[in-house]
Amino acid sequence: MQKIVSFSKRRGFIFPSSGIYGGFSSCYDFGPLGVEMRKNIKDAWWNSMTKGKDDIVGIDASILMSPKVWEASGHLTAGFTDELVECKKCHHRFRKDFVKDKCPDCGGSFTKSKKFNLMMKTFIGPVEDSASISYLRAETCQGIYVNFKNVMQSMRKKVPFGIAQIGKAFRNEINPKDFIFRTREFEQMEMQWFCSSKDADKLFDYWLKKRLSWYYDLGINKKNLRTYEVPEKELAHYARRAVDIEYKFPFGWKEIEGIHNRGDWDLSNHSKHSGDDLKYEGFYPYVIETSAGVDRNMFAFLTEAYQEIKGGRRKDANKEVEIVLNVDRRLAPVKVAVLPLVKNSPKLIKKAKQIYNLLKTNMVCFYDESGSIGRRYRRLDEIGCVSAITIDFKSLEDDSVTVRDRDTMKQKRIKINKLLDFLNV
Ligand code: GAP
Repeated sequence: MQKIVSFSKRRGFIFPSSGIYGGFSSCYDFGPLGVEMRKNIKDAWWNSMTKGKDDIVGIDASILMSPKVWEASGHLTAGFTDELVECKKCHHRFRKDFVKDKCPDCGGSFTKSKKFNLMMKTFIGPVEDSASISYLRAETCQGIYVNFKNVMQSMRKKVPFGIAQIGKAFRNEINPKDFIFRTREFEQMEMQWFCSSKDADKLFDYWLKKRLSWYYDLGINKKNLRTYEVPEKELAHYARRAVDIEYKFPFGWKEIEGIHNRGDWDLSNHSKHSGDDLKYEGFYPYVIETSAGVDRNMFAFLTEAYQEIKGGRRKDANKEVEIVLNVDRRLAPVKVAVLPLVKNSPKLIKKAKQIYNLLKTNMVCFYDESGSIGRRYRRLDEIGCVSAITIDFKSLEDDSVTVRDRDTMKQKRIKINKLLDFLNV
């Protein structure tokens, strides 16, 4: 875990938020490579949900919504709480299910537990009174339910169909922890599939399978993923059934995505509270939801890909530990790097820059001329760069370059005018 945290900072993936002020509890900033990788994860998800699909459309709803939404959804009234205990001695507060009977900080005993609502409160406008209270959304899907009719009518959709959305969500977690695993600000990728109640069970199994294969396809090893059928007494207030997709993190098996059968909880409650009838052909559609965390996904993909190879991968390598980020090429933050073999030849540099200019508008591309070629390869392997192009003296004669593959380290000679086709990224 510590290795991934320091690697993420050192190579520009994830920085602690407000670092120059000593950080800000549980908040993180995504650096230049982190933001590329997150975008790739989101694109992969968005493409798998919406690309070439007639029956799933996307929306982007606002983070601030009417507080009435959260009354209707049950987040303010029913179950969106955690049990909180406070140490009688040092007054530190903990989520009850995260501690045993003694305070982990001072050994003191706890008060009786009380319920703590996780909605993140804010005020709208210049007056901070009860009439101006609003909440940052705790799950993105509520923006989908309140737009169910808008989407159906404007897009002329018929049930069954789905709505997908990616966006930030906020929860006032009592004990955020484990790096970007549990934070107060995070991002979700959610898809709500509206269907008839009789098809719901079958569709639940369908979407669970589909989501598992998405992770496998992007390189997560089957042995590092498992499913957990949430027992009835642990179900969220809206859920009739829930299965968590869990990843084997350095700190144990933990949820990265939830598949939920929400029944008609959301549409019927919003109908009741708003007075707007959200029935479709006389019934409330059931909702099968797939709800994945972008941050937990990123953490899982980084964990899966991060490899330390003692003594390096080549026989003649020095004895240093070599790091390779063996991430799927679709998720890799940098696709290709352009490396002139030496930096003291103006002709080589000119050629290399021409190639860099050709590639950089097509894909995320690095240019690097400093250090030995072996060192440069290792720096690129570390950030998961898929291909490295070396321009040598032969390139000046025959307009070809070598392309080295990150995983096999094999090199191929390719004509410059065939490069874009060959890289195919
Ligand atoms: N709309 C349903 C829903 O929000 P959830 O199981 O509460 O269900 C879904 O959350 C996903 O959102 C989780 O699997 C996780 O990936 C992510 N998530 C939830 N709380 C989080 C937190 N505090 N920090 C980071 N990710 C979180």
